Amino acid sequence: MKPYRIQRHEITDSTNDDAKKAAGAGEAEGLVVWALEQKAGRGRHGRSWISPQGNLYCSILLRPSHELQTFGQYSFVAALALCDLIDNFLPQSSVTLKWPNDVLVDGKKIGGILLEAGDGWVVVGIGLNVLHHPDEVLYPSTSLYAEAMDQIELVPVLEMLLDSLWRWYEVIKAEGFTPIRLAWLEHAEKGPLSVRLPQETIKGTFKDLGKDGSLILLLADGSERAIASGDVFTGT
Ligand code: BTN
Repeated sequence: MKPYRIQRHEITDSTNDDAKKAAGAGEAEGLVVWALEQKAGRGRHGRSWISPQGNLYCSILLRPSHELQTFGQYSFVAALALCDLIDNFLPQSSVTLKWPNDVLVDGKKIGGILLEAGDGWVVVGIGLNVLHHPDEVLYPSTSLYAEAMDQIELVPVLEMLLDSLWRWYEVIKAEGFTPIRLAWLEHAEKGPLSVRLPQETIKGTFKDLGKDGSLILLLADGSERAIASGDVFTGT
């Protein structure tokens, strides 16, 4: 059963902030905060997420029953949901997933996920470029419209995303992280990667997704390094 309750805003600061507030006030799992526009959309690592009308901005409140030490695994659940959605809208394109949770179409970022968790809850914030994509960002980017050159309505996009998210949520609840990890690996952006950390940049080749969700890089000297957090760029 999908217990979604959609709260639609014309405009808000950040749907993640709204969903976190609701979580703190005891709201049940399944709340979806959806906004047509955000004034203070947030991305990973404290960056802003420019949020004009025309793209999808939503945050889903989940209350998984198991230990939330592993809540980072839910970003892979959300990435798989976005991957299914894009496969459906852009069947001719190649969709890949770049660690930890960027969704790329032909190498260009089309969506991002911001996961936040608290006592017994996870908020999965999803931004998907539907009509617009920023010109100047850290990574090359694109939108559904730029790829499909067709008018795309937000409501069916949101509905399909929520359906797919729930399917993968049922999988992780029933079978744990293993099937999520394997499905993510099937779509992973492999090959040479460089990882920008606060103090250094590490270059290597994609080796694996760790069982804890970390990125395992193979370095030039043959050693392996597990990365828990960082900005990942494709190529050398
Ligand atoms: C990233 O940096 O790649 C993650 C971007 C996540 C943006 C979404 S838009 C909906 C939700 N509300 C926010 O303020 N951020 C997330």
